[in-house]
Amino acid sequence: MTQLFREERRVRLTSAQNPYQAEIEEDASQRERDVNGDILIKGSNVPFELTRQGRLSRYLSNEGENTPLSDRAFFRHDIRTQSGKHTHQGGIGIFVMEGLGYTTVNGQSLDWKKYDLILLPNIPEQCEHQHFNRDPGRPAIWCAFIYEGSRREAGNQVTQNSDSPEFSGTPTV
Ligand SMILES: [Fe+2]
Repeated sequence: MTQLFREERRVRLTSAQNPYQAEIEEDASQRERDVNGDILIKGSNVPFELTRQGRLSRYLSNEGENTPLSDRAFFRHDIRTQSGKHTHQGGIGIFVMEGLGYTTVNGQSLDWKKYDLILLPNIPEQCEHQHFNRDPGRPAIWCAFIYEGSRREAGNQVTQNSDSPEFSGTPTV
């Protein structure tokens, strides 16, 4: 959806009869969100969805929500057993809110527990990673905060290498 959002913005700006005016209107829209946009997003309004990577609850998804923050992604991940495995660029902090588990990053295994912080670096080969709950039956939940601009500029490309065992739908990505 990030790509779609970017493409929609590019089309909006380049197809405008007056791209300079369109840019000014974009800025005004941002200013409006700065002043009047939502500055509290309730967890109760953000249900979990089951994706190929696992159970995600997306607070911000870079899809043009009415919030002051642009180009960001913020989500929780509930790991019941293990996530899918995927590869993408780093520059991401993952804060553990609950539970006990480990994450593999490019072959390195990192044990974590509540209040630990996992960092994915920006590196040419990107980060292949997967998350595991060491105590299935008890919650293992972390949250990630991503600034998409720097990640894109660092050559981000998401590749799904294997699906979460919980996922049984039809892959769309
Ligand atoms: Fe990831």
